[in-house]
Amino acid sequence: MATDIPLKGRRWECEQLDGLVTAVWAGLSRALVLRGEPGVGKTALLDYVAQRASGCRVTRAAGVQSEMELVYAGLHQLCAPLLDRLDRLDRLPGPQRDGLRAAFGMRGAASLDRFLVGLAALNLLSAAAEERPLVCLVDDAQWLDRASAQVLAFVARRLSRRPLPWCSPCATAARSSTSCPSW
Ligand SMILES: Nc1ncnc2c1ncn2[C@@H]1O[C@H](COP(=O)(O)OP(=O)(O)OP(=O)(O)O)[C@@H](O)[C@H]1O
Ligand SMILES: [Mg+2]
Repeated sequence: MATDIPLKGRRWECEQLDGLVTAVWAGLSRALVLRGEPGVGKTALLDYVAQRASGCRVTRAAGVQSEMELVYAGLHQLCAPLLDRLDRLDRLPGPQRDGLRAAFGMRGAASLDRFLVGLAALNLLSAAAEERPLVCLVDDAQWLDRASAQVLAFVARRLSRRPLPWCSPCATAARSSTSCPSW
């Protein structure tokens, strides 16, 4: 548990986030959404998680307003670092592998089924988490492209239902309090 809280007035929030990282080290899966008004300190809290989770693999994405029309741009940001080992993709069931490849422009879009992409993302993150505890951080979720927001919400909802010790990914997303139905 943290003894030094670098963020002024955020002891409670930091303790919750410490608990999240501790749970991940214990092999548990967690998902957490941080909500707050613009400028209130959401990104600072994600930076805090990244720092506390320094022994984990940390993968990070941020919604970008100008990329909201680019389908799966946000998911690609989050997953691209996990594609450094192609066998993680190769181990996915064929339709899921094809779906994710299509989502990331690695093959034709004929098999671009959002459910398959969601399953593939879940299994890709799980495969990476089997090797090393994994923390996924998504900032400015209100600006994610819709497809990525749906897939990441799909993944986050399923994380807590995964049996142990098959996977232990943790997802934390921050969004400003503007409309964003998926999160
Ligand atoms: N607890 C804190 N104590 C002191 N300064 C803080 C704290 N939290 C955030 N800040 C500072 O406040 C500013 C805004 O924080 P931050 O960017 O994290 O807000 P945000 O909620 O992510 O904003 P946005 O909604 O625009 O993304 C930054 O300069 C950050 O360093
Ligand atoms: Mg921010």
